[in-house]
Amino acid sequence: MAGKVSVIGAGAYGAMTAHRLAECDAFDTVVLTDVVEGRAEGLALDIGQCRPIVGFETHVVGRTTGRDGDGYDVLAGSDVVVLAAGVPRTPGMGRQELLETNAGVVRAAAAQIARYAADAVLIVVTNPLDEMTALAQRVTGFPHARVIGQGGVLDSARFTTFVADELGVPVSSVRTLTLGSHGDAMVPVPSRSTVDGRPLAEVLDPDALDAVAERTRTGGGEIVALLKTGSASHAPSAAAAAMARAIVGDTGTVLPVCAWLTGEYGISDVYLGVPAELGAGGVRRIVTAPLTESELAALTEAADTVRARQENLR
Ligand code: APR
Repeated sequence: MAGKVSVIGAGAYGAMTAHRLAECDAFDTVVLTDVVEGRAEGLALDIGQCRPIVGFETHVVGRTTGRDGDGYDVLAGSDVVVLAAGVPRTPGMGRQELLETNAGVVRAAAAQIARYAADAVLIVVTNPLDEMTALAQRVTGFPHARVIGQGGVLDSARFTTFVADELGVPVSSVRTLTLGSHGDAMVPVPSRSTVDGRPLAEVLDPDALDAVAERTRTGGGEIVALLKTGSASHAPSAAAAAMARAIVGDTGTVLPVCAWLTGEYGISDVYLGVPAELGAGGVRRIVTAPLTESELAALTEAADTVRARQENLR
């Protein structure tokens, strides 16, 4: 595999995503940028110096970008851009505060991505995720298929981990699915989730299943509360890197992502978490998993909630 991936925002999430992408040795170049003078360059040197120890050859480039767009030319020729700039949630931070701060960051960065990496697939990871993905698509003017958000890979990984830990089985024997929002309107989907091929409802009693689903829904907040400053970055960066690899490798891998719906699941005109087949052009197609009546009702309700939030953001 060869190609160029750029990561905007060299904080915990972005730096670890760049590190994972470099270390998998699947790309020619990984670019890392940040507004803080020297941070991206320093981290790029640090990541690059892992090469002889770990054994990879990826060229890692760091660049400081100015608020006026200086330095963004480094994105030219990117196959994928991961947008990881913005503040993380802290305990007690209101949703509106996070939204307003990060919307400003996303607007500014998305305009530069459209200018310098007009053919890239854009993976948004900045929170609140569903809104920031919709905003980035609007600002870039990219086709919807080329702007996707990272939410579902992480949420499903959390669901899988909690189920495996509850039952004391390897994570490899558990398959789970989450749909909807990457946040309070998340819809864990037990009917599409299995342990060694057996439906989740057969191996977990209803109370245990509810508890695991609720812990999945609040999984990000659980980590924020423990860390006190900063939010999760290890599993999120693994999720973003998996998406970038599927896109650059044009693999057709089906992953749960935040994607634009045009009638799938009876839902339209909203960015929502659904399984999608990923390839060089971003989303090749949305995969419609059969759902129970109550799961579909929950997804439809989530879509209405998320659509209203996305439409309010310009
Ligand atoms: N352009 C580039 N980088 C920026 C900009 C900008 N306009 N504004 C802020 N940054 C950088 C900061 O300088 C910092 O290095 O974004 C980085 C954010 O890093 P952290 O504070 O460590 O946050 P992180 O945990 O990486 O989360 C980033 O991802 O999961 C989401 O909720 C999280 O929205 C947050 C984002």
